[in-house]
Amino acid sequence: MHLFYVSAYVSLFVYAVAGRYTSRTAGNCMPLHTNFSPGSVASRSSAPGSSPFIAVSPEGSYSTTDGGLKLFLQRPSGKITTDGGVNDKVAEGATINSTFTMLYGKLTVEVSGSTVSGIVSAAILIAEEHDEIDVELVGGDQTNWQTNVYAPSPSDKEPLWGVFGEIENLPARGSIADMHQYTIDWSAERIVWSVDGRVVRTLRPEDTRKNGTLHYPSHPSRVQLGIWDASSPQGTAEWANGPVNWERAPERMSAVVRSVTVECP
Ligand SMILES: *[C@@H]1O[C@H](CO)[C@@H](O)[C@H](O)[C@H]1NC(C)=O
Ligand SMILES: *[C@@H]1O[C@H](CO)[C@@H](O)[C@H](O)[C@H]1NC(C)=O
Repeated sequence: MHLFYVSAYVSLFVYAVAGRYTSRTAGNCMPLHTNFSPGSVASRSSAPGSSPFIAVSPEGSYSTTDGGLKLFLQRPSGKITTDGGVNDKVAEGATINSTFTMLYGKLTVEVSGSTVSGIVSAAILIAEEHDEIDVELVGGDQTNWQTNVYAPSPSDKEPLWGVFGEIENLPARGSIADMHQYTIDWSAERIVWSVDGRVVRTLRPEDTRKNGTLHYPSHPSRVQLGIWDASSPQGTAEWANGPVNWERAPERMSAVVRSVTVECP
């Protein structure tokens, strides 16, 4: 064997044995453009095989269709009581992970979200270390969308929820219910969020300094697509203009992800 092949073989082996470690330190970014044809999402009970995505939520909570990936959220069964600004039952919406991680790179999603108050449709990058880079469509605020990051530091007394969040406009007369293209362009130097090709926010590491520590996402992250019920706890429900009023809300709601594009660094 040529030395190149030997070393390629050895690194493959090392990758297989220490896959988790390798993917956590370097990421295993996969350039990708998908419209979610059947087979692109492995169910949570099956082996992912070569599927770029795997469901975190049960089968039936999502479907791959000609129009893209449909994410559903179903009313919890039984009586739901609202008290003190929260619901006593919270629906479990669809959540889909990528099977690959990326450490820096560019994520573009075409998504239309639910406009029900208290429901959030989201496309995020999330790391095992709990770093997040978020695009969130908050049902109770149809003409805006939100950007956010988390990167917990051991010296934080409490999670910095909302501290780095920002509300962004949609292009003229836009609604989160319409298909828009949201982009997270992430490097070690900055995160740039865009909608329909228009830059709305640039965040640099220095902008994330709190209490002397940077809170800048810097770990390999999965793409996570989801629709969730923000009807509890109270702070979350308030942020999402919730809790969901199930006397008026439909029994089943959905968000549609028409495509996902990943460009690796
Ligand atoms: C989905 O991603 C989260 C965040 O990285 C991780 O904790 C969880 O185990 C993942 N689940 C699956 C099924 O990939
Ligand atoms: C600020 O950091 C110090 C340690 O560097 C920690 O003891 C303290 O709890 C932190 N304060 C907050 C508000 O996170």
